[in-house]
Amino acid sequence: MKIINFFTLIFTVMCLHVDAQVNRHSYSSPDKISYRHLSWKANIDFERREIRAQASFHLLHHSAAEEIVLDVKGLVIDQVNVDGVSTPWQVEHQDPILGSALRIPLNAQSKELKVAYHTTSESDALLWVEGDLPFLFTQSQAILARTWIPCQDLPAVRFTYDAEVTVPAHLLPLMSARNPKQLKESREATSTYHFEQPKPIPSYLMALAVGNIEYRAISPRAGVYATPQLITEATEELSDLEKMIAAAESLYGPYQWEQFDVLILPPAFPFGGMENPMLTFATPTILAGDKSLVSLIAHELAHSWSGNLVTNETWNDFWLNEGFTVYFELRIMEALYGKEVSEMLAALNIQDLYHTIAELHPNDTRLKLELDGRDPDDGMNDIAYNKGYWLLRTIEERVGRVKFDRFLKKYFTEHAFQVMNTERFIEILHRELLDPGNAKYIGVNQWVYQPNIPDNAYPIVSQRIVEVDKLVVLYNNDSLSNNQIPWKNWTYQEQYRFLTNVKFHSLDQFHAWDAFHHVSKTKNKEILFAWILKSIEMNDQSQHAQDVLTQFLGEVGRRKFIAPLYKKLVHEGRSDEAKNYLERYKGVYHSVTRQTVMDFWK
Ligand code: BES
Ligand code: ZN
Repeated sequence: MKIINFFTLIFTVMCLHVDAQVNRHSYSSPDKISYRHLSWKANIDFERREIRAQASFHLLHHSAAEEIVLDVKGLVIDQVNVDGVSTPWQVEHQDPILGSALRIPLNAQSKELKVAYHTTSESDALLWVEGDLPFLFTQSQAILARTWIPCQDLPAVRFTYDAEVTVPAHLLPLMSARNPKQLKESREATSTYHFEQPKPIPSYLMALAVGNIEYRAISPRAGVYATPQLITEATEELSDLEKMIAAAESLYGPYQWEQFDVLILPPAFPFGGMENPMLTFATPTILAGDKSLVSLIAHELAHSWSGNLVTNETWNDFWLNEGFTVYFELRIMEALYGKEVSEMLAALNIQDLYHTIAELHPNDTRLKLELDGRDPDDGMNDIAYNKGYWLLRTIEERVGRVKFDRFLKKYFTEHAFQVMNTERFIEILHRELLDPGNAKYIGVNQWVYQPNIPDNAYPIVSQRIVEVDKLVVLYNNDSLSNNQIPWKNWTYQEQYRFLTNVKFHSLDQFHAWDAFHHVSKTKNKEILFAWILKSIEMNDQSQHAQDVLTQFLGEVGRRKFIAPLYKKLVHEGRSDEAKNYLERYKGVYHSVTRQTVMDFWK
């Protein structure tokens, strides 16, 4: 009896301990000790594909801590100093998701911690891209910062940073910080650049890119970085940047990050965009030639408030970052391009949301996530983004835009540079916006803690999407010929709606339609992606279809496109072929994309 109790006790203590770690996806205890500033010194070695660096932390004691624990993954620690004295360290645990705990003894007086280390091929944030000239970029969100900088890798710890980065003299380094606008003159083989991020940021916003990069200003505080091949095209595509910032500011208050630049990455970038402060990272697949995909930039810009000012406390609260950002993104789009456009975007978001809900376990369709023991990446789907959006839209429609905007502006101002969690947000919402009647009508708790979409969701109707749907019905009934589809006059959103809902009865019909409208020749990668999916679904194994597919899989590394294509191939019985593609191209994908695709065969 006693023995059982003893083991039960030990087991309970162990579970509590582990639970605390996975809940926050970090081994660290920032409530005891943390830091307020990071000084990072790094040498970027393209030959060895290795970063050799020193991270110095200015410590902040909250209680009498006898050690500090940092998160690390795929790093080799070379030396640790506390206040200049070499100190032994320990690396504990080896979790496939969380990585390891780096434990360093210190005392209540310790001021400065210095960790010398280097990255390895297991440093999953990094992608070293081959090319005429090499390129390196990082992707830290959600928990990959620890694979290139040892840190307390959770959103609740904010710090300012400065950096000194040494690179080959012909390449330009950029960070989520104040950035250089051109190469330094150098007679040496390498150059060293200095960076400063004066505002406190969480670790997931640490970012670095190094490449053959040029800068073009669009306004004094906004501009574009890209390779010389893309810089002109990119600057034209993003020429509305300053207007977007102005629109955002007039909605929810001043832009707080000095500069808003966009870096166009190589096509291997695994996401559409990443809101790194002062330097949004973006996929080149948004360069459609007609500005039709710039809502992605509005989205990343919106994160300068929702996410970068008011930050989700844990990844379970991810919808506070993304749902608010989609809402804000569509408001910016409405301000610049009108309600017709923003409402089409909303309608397509809702279409995606229902597809996602059909695929997910009901428990994963709640806004507040339970990611304990799972990769926070699992939460990156339409629930956080579009169910989150829909809740906010429903509240806006109920209380009126004027009141809702006043509430949001205050929310971003009062909680700037802080973390927010779901429970506190609900409290604030009820205290500051919803009277008892409206609170009852909205039923926030059902939206947040229950699966699926509540019945009171505001009915989003885009007239132009409705018109497309009518044509889809006619076409599916064979009552409409190819020349009656106004393809060329349609916006991207209308084309996308048609393509994702039309049903071709035969391969011949699919080919005739494509020959008529030249869809597979489009420069718009969203449309091309939808076309390829359709062609796989139609079992189109023509030379043309094969060529388009192979070219796309080998060139684009954006997970949102690549993962569904592999999935579809497997689903349509072309698993071996898909495996061959993956074997051929896995070296060019970022770990985030590679891992998702590889999991299809697990
Ligand atoms: N912050 C996200 C990207 C992200 C989320 C990376 C979670 C890693 C983990 C970014 O703001 C984003 O949402 N990007 C979207 C584009 C957007 C228009 C929906 C993307 O990359 O598809
Ligand atoms: Zn986002």
